[in-house]
Amino acid sequence: MNRTVEAANGVNIPQLGFGLYKIKDVKTFERTVEEAIRVGYRHFDTAKIYGNEAALGRAIQKSGIPREEFFITSKAWTTDLGYRATKKAFEQTCRKLNVTYLDMYLIHFAGPQYPESWKVMEELYEDSKIKVIGVANFEIRHLEHLKKNSRILPKVNQIETHPEFPQHELHDYMVKHRILHEAWGPLGQGSKVLLEHPQLGEIALRHQKSIAQVILRWHLQRGIIVIPKSSNPQRIKENNEIFDFGLNEKEMEQIRRLDTGKRYSVSPNGYMVNPIYVKLMKLFIR
Ligand SMILES: NC(=O)c1ccc[n+]([C@@H]2O[C@H](COP(=O)([O-])OP(=O)(O)OC[C@H]3O[C@@H](n4cnc5c(N)ncnc54)[C@H](OP(=O)(O)O)[C@@H]3O)[C@@H](O)[C@H]2O)c1
Repeated sequence: MNRTVEAANGVNIPQLGFGLYKIKDVKTFERTVEEAIRVGYRHFDTAKIYGNEAALGRAIQKSGIPREEFFITSKAWTTDLGYRATKKAFEQTCRKLNVTYLDMYLIHFAGPQYPESWKVMEELYEDSKIKVIGVANFEIRHLEHLKKNSRILPKVNQIETHPEFPQHELHDYMVKHRILHEAWGPLGQGSKVLLEHPQLGEIALRHQKSIAQVILRWHLQRGIIVIPKSSNPQRIKENNEIFDFGLNEKEMEQIRRLDTGKRYSVSPNGYMVNPIYVKLMKLFIR
């Protein structure tokens, strides 16, 4: 199986990346990224709000591996929406990461003023400052708005996706519009319901793999980009060993039926995009 997926503009994106949300402290972060690079991950997913862009930049530099071999994603937070704010946020992010371009930059949530931010994304893309521009937590109505009002469609939408919440409708819409589906929380954020699910356990046993590996493989076979997070060396390695087996149609269908409609985290329409909340957050996040 090919380890990359091609975005609509021809850029190859490593289909397995590494999530960097909520890694406890600086020492753990450094050890985690060092281990991830050592076992072969080159695609890293950070965001301004995670507060670890500078640490990621340092870890990449320390690895001695050329910057071009990495695929670095970051995101503009809801307090950075609007034309000037998004421009400034992008520059800040590049400074912290110590890079001159980003492989991928996403609007983190469709908060107030996201259409203005999208104009900045288009300009930065045309200036070759970003290879792939995209969004996160966007629903069909947001993507339709951009389709009608922008020159360039997002190439990626990063959304909560796992067997309990497979996002079939949005997935089909994105396939039709050549917007790549990227899963955040691909393991249901470590949910025991998923990671100890008896049906997934049977499939895992059959393939001599772990349930986490089966779930990640299911994402890959749907054409989805995955960015599991782990700060445990054994699981970092385990999550990387998903290219040497395949699920058959019956198994894919069995997992498809595990859909319960359960989100494990914030809704794209929650407080995060409420204009009053965003205004308040601006007092604390710069
Ligand atoms: N765009 C957005 O709004 C958004 C929102 C959330 C996350 N994200 C991105 O998506 C990435 C992944 O999502 P996530 O971190 O929320 O959840 P996740 O990757 O689904 O799950 C992470 C949890 O699963 C555990 N885990 C990892 N591998 C495992 C394995 N093989 N077996 C058992 N447990 C395992 C981890 O624990 P250990 O560390 O102890 O292994 C951790 O508790 C984030 O890190 C972030 O980069 C984006």
